[in-house]
Amino acid sequence: MPAEKTVFSSQQIATRVAELAHRINGDYAGRKLLVVGVLTGAFIFTADLVRALDLDLAVDFIQVSSYGRGTSSSGEITLGKDLDYEICNREVLLVEDIIDTGRTLTWLRHHLFARRPASFKVCALLDKRERREVEVEIDYAGFRVERGFLVGYGLDYAGRYRQRPEILELVRTTRQTQE
Ligand code: IMP
Ligand code: MG
Repeated sequence: MPAEKTVFSSQQIATRVAELAHRINGDYAGRKLLVVGVLTGAFIFTADLVRALDLDLAVDFIQVSSYGRGTSSSGEITLGKDLDYEICNREVLLVEDIIDTGRTLTWLRHHLFARRPASFKVCALLDKRERREVEVEIDYAGFRVERGFLVGYGLDYAGRYRQRPEILELVRTTRQTQE
């Protein structure tokens, strides 16, 4: 079992979510918004964010998977669930848990852009820099981190830890590093 280290407390997350929501409220004031959460990792962030938004909005979810059961990307992205709503001419805000290599976001951007939304912006709770392969634009970023495998607040490792209220880093012990 890897050791856990708290990276962001639930209080820090709540404060940051409120700040992001404040900016989004200002930017979209008077406009209709479609918030698209990326399942499964962004389900808690999306739920907290939309409750802090004071806008005329609808919520949809899309599911893609890029990871197997481990901590590194398989590089292949598969669509699990597509949107329920039409997005043509709508203002879309995509909500992601974490941007790592940038491949998932790039794939999603192409996939959704083809449907001609009126606008398309990205809100990501975590912007993890170390393994970035594709430059991507993140309009609203919660926390920037350099590295580490993060779990909690929706993020998982092999399906676990999603329900934890804080964001944790899984730290491998010396013995596990040799696996
Ligand atoms: P990317 O395509 O490499 O940018 O990966 C994006 C997706 O990989 C995220 O939406 C997460 O689901 C997953 N992911 C990347 N890094 C982490 C992490 O540190 N913890 C949990 N999931 C991660
Ligand atoms: Mg994800």
